Amino acid sequence: MKEQILAKFKEIFGGEGEVSLYFAPGRVNMIGEHTDYNGGHVFPCALTIGTYGAVRKRSDKTLRFYSMNFEKLGIIESSIEGLKPEKEAGWTNYPKGVIWAFGERGMKVDTGFDLLLYGNIPNGSGLSSSASVEVLTGFILKELYGFDVTNQDLALIGQFSENKFNGVNCGIMDQFAIAMGKAGHAIFLDTATLKYEYAPIQLKDAKIVISCSNKKRGLGDSKYNERRSECETALAQISQVAGINSLGDLNEEQFEQCKNSIKDEVIRQRAKHAVYENQRTIKAVSALKNNDVELFGKLMNESHVSLRDDYEVTGIELDTLVEEAWKVEGVIGSRMTGAGFGGCTVSIVKDDAVDTFIKQVGSAYEKKIGYKADFYVVEIGDGPCKLV
Ligand code: GLA
Repeated sequence: MKEQILAKFKEIFGGEGEVSLYFAPGRVNMIGEHTDYNGGHVFPCALTIGTYGAVRKRSDKTLRFYSMNFEKLGIIESSIEGLKPEKEAGWTNYPKGVIWAFGERGMKVDTGFDLLLYGNIPNGSGLSSSASVEVLTGFILKELYGFDVTNQDLALIGQFSENKFNGVNCGIMDQFAIAMGKAGHAIFLDTATLKYEYAPIQLKDAKIVISCSNKKRGLGDSKYNERRSECETALAQISQVAGINSLGDLNEEQFEQCKNSIKDEVIRQRAKHAVYENQRTIKAVSALKNNDVELFGKLMNESHVSLRDDYEVTGIELDTLVEEAWKVEGVIGSRMTGAGFGGCTVSIVKDDAVDTFIKQVGSAYEKKIGYKADFYVVEIGDGPCKLV
């Protein structure tokens, strides 16, 4: 693939001079969903699929972008001066947002560059193709212009750019998982403090299978921001009776004691998910440490039920994939992953059940939904790197 990407760069942008090639992964979250903007825990991991970026610095102020995934758009050109989000700019709003965010932190990019991307994360699948582009861009800026930033800074800058430039109020999970990824490990992150710990994922005789619903979603047009504000309302009401900074500060018992301070029943349900999901994530990680993969799987299943019934972010496509997965013998756990409303599910499946899983879930899904799902047996990979 490397050679094809570099050859494409030459074909599209021509010219002389050294071209470098970088990579940033996508991510899948194992458990801890919609907790990262509630001061809770998450447990994501970086994947070996992701985004490749071939880049060459320019001596003028021009930026030129090209994506092998959106060839019809051709070269998209702009300037490093006066960057602002534009609808017609499509995916280039992500790298532009990161350049802008570096500037906001006093790291001014003074010359432009040509950037060609190729991603093998299915777009809009909930595996964080946009956060992958953000972290990739940050990593490239650091290398090309010599900025003094850590990978953790790249995660925060990526999130800032997505919040402030692209208008999606996402939490820190995706960018953190990508920037800090470590092969063979998931990251147990406390989003209230950014304290984290790597936990080895040793499934022995099982695999992580991602089922992609092929129902596209974008965070901007989903109910993501609505859920966030529902949680803020819940927190404001609970805070009047309990001295907490975030819903993640409560355990189940504490929540049950003060939940009636939340007036609206739906808002109460949202808060319940945030509290219980955080506690589930803590329990799931300790189950894994005790080599109790079965319990980990059970908690994954409970997570899905809570996202379906209390948080209401699943939908028929994700519910079908998960409920069909639960019927397959050899499935240890299965749940939606990411923001929801479409995108993917993540399942832990015994090695000898993987083929049956794909066949059985695939055909039931197509029968019910009317189009196919895609399946990926994935590996846990490292964070961003320079390839060439
Ligand atoms: C999206 C957001 C994350 C997180 C998840 C839900 O992926 O970008 O910050 O909130 O949804 O867990």
